[in-house]
Amino acid sequence: MTDFKKIVLFGPQGSGKGTQAERLSGFFGIPQLAPGNIFRKAVAEATDLGKKVELILKQGNLVPDEITNAIMKERLEQEDCLGGFILDGYPRNKTQADELDALTNVSHVLLFKIPDQESVHRLSQRRVCSHCGATYHLEFKKPVQENVCDFCGHNLYQRDDDKPAAISKRLKIFHQETEPLLVRYEQRAILYTIDGLGPIAEVWQRIQDVFKQVHD
Ligand code: AP5
Repeated sequence: MTDFKKIVLFGPQGSGKGTQAERLSGFFGIPQLAPGNIFRKAVAEATDLGKKVELILKQGNLVPDEITNAIMKERLEQEDCLGGFILDGYPRNKTQADELDALTNVSHVLLFKIPDQESVHRLSQRRVCSHCGATYHLEFKKPVQENVCDFCGHNLYQRDDDKPAAISKRLKIFHQETEPLLVRYEQRAILYTIDGLGPIAEVWQRIQDVFKQVHD
């Protein structure tokens, strides 16, 4: 595997990791690996994993490291990751970051910065497709037809963890457990901080500028 395009996205809840990961995935032709999506799919399908993590997600807590690390190791070893990948929501604490270091070298770490009050505002208006997981925003990224996914035609819903109590729990975990990881990537000179405020297209342009700047 080349070192190019092994990208990790960091940022508080609602900072645009999932939104921009979808764009990066299409742009580079590499998969988006998002444990949150894997867990929500398992819950929707009522698998053994889904039954184990349902309440944890609803309350805004982290799924235990042994479960998350095993799932991400298995996913990273699949063939479609050989040409690179985008990690969206992993790692989130020291144990996970150590596990990732043992598995592979990442090439770029992007941090999306937004204030906590913007996280709360964005998440309260987020809607997600019940079938394919595509993400919408009632103000900034509306579906063509109200409450219907543009891609697969299924209904949209509001995530259980996009309610105020769970949002503040998730933000607290981000600041206490995830933010301290950034220093290890800063020391490796692979950390790029991106202003996450402004329209989605502008944030995407900033990301493209980072990749241009790195490879010019
Ligand atoms: P996960 O699904 O990863 O949630 P998260 O990290 O809390 O991040 P979000 O999905 O809330 O935000 P985002 O940054 O992706 O924003 P988005 O692009 O959607 O994790 C959920 C749960 O799974 C966790 O709480 C935990 O329980 C478990 N889990 C996941 N990873 C784990 C791990 N590693 N270890 C253990 N447990 C784990 O954008 C948000 C909204 O804003 C959207 O509506 C979007 O349209 C809109 N938007 C995006 N960009 C802009 C913009 N520039 N301007 C205006 N609106 C925008």
